[in-house]
Amino acid sequence: MHVVMFSTRSYEVERYNRLNMNRHALEITRERLTIDTVALAKGYEAIIVFVSDDLSTPVIEKLGSMGIKLIVCRSAGYDHVDCATAKKLGIVVANCPRYSPSAVAEFAVGLLLALNRKIVLAHEQITRHDFTIDNLLGFEISTSTVGIIGTGHIGAAFAKIMKGFGCTLLAYDPFENPECITLGVKYCSLDTLLANSDAISLHTPLLESTYHLINDQTISQMKPGVLLVNTARGAVIHTYAVIAGIENGQIGGFAADVYEYERGIFFEDYSNQKLNEPLLEKLLSMQRVLLTPHQAFFTKTALENITKNVFENLDAFEKTGTPTYVLP
Ligand code: NAI
Repeated sequence: MHVVMFSTRSYEVERYNRLNMNRHALEITRERLTIDTVALAKGYEAIIVFVSDDLSTPVIEKLGSMGIKLIVCRSAGYDHVDCATAKKLGIVVANCPRYSPSAVAEFAVGLLLALNRKIVLAHEQITRHDFTIDNLLGFEISTSTVGIIGTGHIGAAFAKIMKGFGCTLLAYDPFENPECITLGVKYCSLDTLLANSDAISLHTPLLESTYHLINDQTISQMKPGVLLVNTARGAVIHTYAVIAGIENGQIGGFAADVYEYERGIFFEDYSNQKLNEPLLEKLLSMQRVLLTPHQAFFTKTALENITKNVFENLDAFEKTGTPTYVLP
């Protein structure tokens, strides 16, 4: 098939060419897919996209008019794709689910530990030759309660690691995961989880039902001083509400690998340039905030599995008209 891959980074080129084994005519571009670059898809049957690409209605409509038949997301999340319009236009959409739940879960645990024990702050202080510890006090995870919102693949992998800490694990998910029940995770209502957790980790997809799930009201239900970790999607939290929660002390610390308005900013190098993104700048200026640039997935295993999943999708679509991980 003739395929073009957008937003390609240096760490992807060798892997994609190697696993392709010349089966598909694969064109690789560093360009991010937007309404301004969509013309690059002309002449291809399929496109491979990343979470940074724009697959909103106007872009999908353009893709449809160019004869694109398949969109493969090289990500598990697909909230950035207007799947309804794609479906209407007969464009099939596929993703890469389950490529490495451990990659994200391990990173979420890392963020939680770094946030709680103020490891990044300690490192920053020590590089200034400040060897005091007065503002580095944390609590012990082993005697605390950790709430998990969303216990699918990543939430369950997070629960498995956290079980080793010996803490109480609460979970909220409309569907109980038997793996989590076996681990001793206690399912409860969202209200109970919010009221009882010393730390909360988010692992839901971004859906209508999870958009701004963490907002003024849900924050007010949390334990004062709660630690909040978001490796899911930026818009699962209302960023303004979280900033207010940090400022009034209701939230003791906030760590996030994702940001509500990250598209077009994350994965790019803006060193020494103004961002014109006051909300992000505000977060970056706050001492109790730890941010990373959507890197939780970024392990060698995950990259290899994502690439394999992408080609499984392309191969199956070419053979049968349906990709392996077709989205509804
Ligand atoms: P999954 O589909 O296996 O699990 C999602 C779980 O969320 C399901 O159990 C579902 O029932 C639950 N859920 C849905 N609506 C909910 C609600 N309103 N309240 C509570 N739970 C709800 O997905 P997986 O693989 O665990 O991934 C979760 C999300 O993590 C992805 O959709 C993606 O947005 C994000 N992600 C982030 C990455 C990163 O690098 N930061 C990398 C990969 C995924």
